[in-house]
Amino acid sequence: MAPTQTPPPESPKTWSGLFSEPVSDLVKRYTASVFFDCRMAAQDIRGSLAHARMLARQGILSEKDLADIERGMARISDEIAGGTFQWNLGDEDVHLNIEKRLTALVGDAGKRLHTGRSRNDQVATDIRLWLREAIDQILELIKAFQASLLDMAERHADTPMPGFTHLQVAQPVTFGHHLLAYFEMTRRDAERLKDCRRRLNRLPLGAAALAGTTYPIDRESVAAELGFDEVCRNSLDAVSDRDFAIEFCAAAALLMTHLSRLSEEIILWMSPRVGFIDLADRFCTGSSIMPQKKNPDVPELVRGKTGRVNGHLVALLTLMKAQPLAYNKDNQEDKEPLFDTAETVIDTLRIYADMIGGIQVKPDSMRAALAQGHATATDLADYLVKKGLPFRDAHEAVARAVRTAEERGLDLSRLNFDELRKALDELPGVAEKLSEDVLAALSIEGSLRARSHVGGTAPGTVRAAIARARAELGVRDA
Ligand code: ARG
Repeated sequence: MAPTQTPPPESPKTWSGLFSEPVSDLVKRYTASVFFDCRMAAQDIRGSLAHARMLARQGILSEKDLADIERGMARISDEIAGGTFQWNLGDEDVHLNIEKRLTALVGDAGKRLHTGRSRNDQVATDIRLWLREAIDQILELIKAFQASLLDMAERHADTPMPGFTHLQVAQPVTFGHHLLAYFEMTRRDAERLKDCRRRLNRLPLGAAALAGTTYPIDRESVAAELGFDEVCRNSLDAVSDRDFAIEFCAAAALLMTHLSRLSEEIILWMSPRVGFIDLADRFCTGSSIMPQKKNPDVPELVRGKTGRVNGHLVALLTLMKAQPLAYNKDNQEDKEPLFDTAETVIDTLRIYADMIGGIQVKPDSMRAALAQGHATATDLADYLVKKGLPFRDAHEAVARAVRTAEERGLDLSRLNFDELRKALDELPGVAEKLSEDVLAALSIEGSLRARSHVGGTAPGTVRAAIARARAELGVRDA
């Protein structure tokens, strides 16, 4: 399928009549896009067939020409699938390569295919078809990723871990709850992609070079055949804007950013200094010099590739910003960033769906970390407030209790009832608000259980969130 470097000498340029000298080999290579736009061959053929059928229905093309085109395109599809199609750099792009081959196979019918069409509306159509398929694939992969996230979250709906702010132990959460945060992020990512798909699903064909065409074309029927919801309403806009590609790259950059954050956490969690998880060996590599190392290469690369996807977004925005209407050759530069973005996202999601299942949680380490940060201090304050103390006074009272715990070298949740009373003795009217139930409120399990409102970390709430997410995704329990 790789395009060949040297065009055969007999391959004439499509516009050669006007030109008195050939372009240099360097210019040929510089202006060619076939190396990368050959990825859109299937879409190009589909678009051409829909266009040809419409031309025949409208009496612009004969039935015989249509039959020849269909036969030729079937053969070309086979050649491409079988890897025998000869891609020529001299024929610049996927569109001219296929048209040249068609003409070689079926003669004049091949030359008539381009009636009422330009490469400008052709390429705009091909990219939209290609991107639509890529988005559909990405949506399926997000779903697979989310399904494994939910399975892991369910296994750890009761597993306490420290929740952090500023990377300092803040309050207890469950590992399941923590994972569900990423479910929500990717749920919005999927929404964004669906929205982008809806806006891109409009047909440019019929816009021709920029101003439309004089033939009695029927754009709606082409749109219907190609699965577009409607036709682009302005010919200049149809051939020139690539906002749909920019929207896609923006949505992809956010998706990658979310996966990069998760990667950062996985890397941190598996550092021996933290030790919350281990990651299956198939996602890690060793060091060529330090035999003791196990490096989280895959999440590190996800973090790294996010930089590249973010860069593609900026590349496309910059590509677009100074282009006058309508089509300019600048637009040929839209493809590599777009293809690379989609391919990077697809590979990343594929790997991630598997990698989530490869996380081995170490609940004891999580609990040990939790027992070092007075993570239930807020729970003691809430307890005192519920007994009638103003929140600011409660805050001060808890600070004293924490100081006592520190002096004893204990976590706040390990103080017994007498120690707690004693710590609060000097504050008027506080110690007598304590009764034995404070110990339950101060425990990690008590702290988790108490946050049972929608969006909270209580194990029951986490389980309900998982059930709801599964119902929405249409996936079953693990
Ligand atoms: N390869 C071109 C692209 O990707 C196709 C359109 C060329 N149109 C033109 N007027 N030169 O944009």
